[in-house]
Amino acid sequence: MRSVDENNITETFLSYFGKDTDPRLREVMTSLAKHLHEFAKETELTHEEWQTGLKFLQWTGKITTDERNEFVLLSDVLGLSSLIDIINSSEDGTSSSVLGPFHISGSPPHEMGADLRGDSGGDLVLVEGRILDPDQNPIGGATIDIWQTAPNGLYSSQDEEQDRYNFHALFTTDVDGQYSFTTTRPVSYTVPTDGPVGEILNATGRHPWRPSHLHYIVEADGYRPLVTEVFPDDDPYLDEDTVFGVRSDLVMTYERRLASTFPSSGYALSGQVSEDYLHVAFDVVLSRA
Ligand code: BEZ
Ligand code: FE
Repeated sequence: MRSVDENNITETFLSYFGKDTDPRLREVMTSLAKHLHEFAKETELTHEEWQTGLKFLQWTGKITTDERNEFVLLSDVLGLSSLIDIINSSEDGTSSSVLGPFHISGSPPHEMGADLRGDSGGDLVLVEGRILDPDQNPIGGATIDIWQTAPNGLYSSQDEEQDRYNFHALFTTDVDGQYSFTTTRPVSYTVPTDGPVGEILNATGRHPWRPSHLHYIVEADGYRPLVTEVFPDDDPYLDEDTVFGVRSDLVMTYERRLASTFPSSGYALSGQVSEDYLHVAFDVVLSRA
């Protein structure tokens, strides 16, 4: 195109694709260019604003390391990560939710009924449930990778005071599909705010809080792996998660139970509990692969 203008620039861009361009790449790039051009036209973006945006992305790149990916966090607070989760979620399984940056691989295997709280303090929580197929049959041999915050609101990877795998555990279900463990009540926390994402949250009058949650990755042969989270219905941030991770089927209720009702066997803490505790029942349904 000899004379590029605001009306033909998108068409011109599309005409530049080589004929052997991968069809999916062509589809994604076509849509991206259309929306990007439309965005600039709709907002009448100025040179100064465009430069501000580029500097913001440059800062995002500079602060990103192997341990901290500010691009992922940006995608999270823009709702893009959750939208991609929703678009790719299965129809007949438990909803997926954001992975977040604090998962570490290699969580130590634990026996069913293990205790993750130790002497960390916080409210005692007993979590139990089943891993099921879409017809509600139990899935044996499923692995459940669990991780959560300590009572100070930090994941072990953020806190030098904690052991590497504190509040990280791997369980494998028996033929009955059951899983169970005790832990401390996870707490609400803020996403990191000392970088460009914090600045954009601040500039747009948004808070950085996530409702408290337990993270799960559930995997079993023949089923789609599921990355998800479970949220209590009494958390003040449940309806305003800054990364848009909450889905109605991921919300559970803490049921307060008397110490005397704690199971007398099957748990590492059986026979030792003298405080009231919170009970959580959460079943996970995996879609077939
Ligand atoms: C998390 O749940 O660990 C998390 C998710 C997204 C951004 C920051 C943290
Ligand atoms: Fe988290």
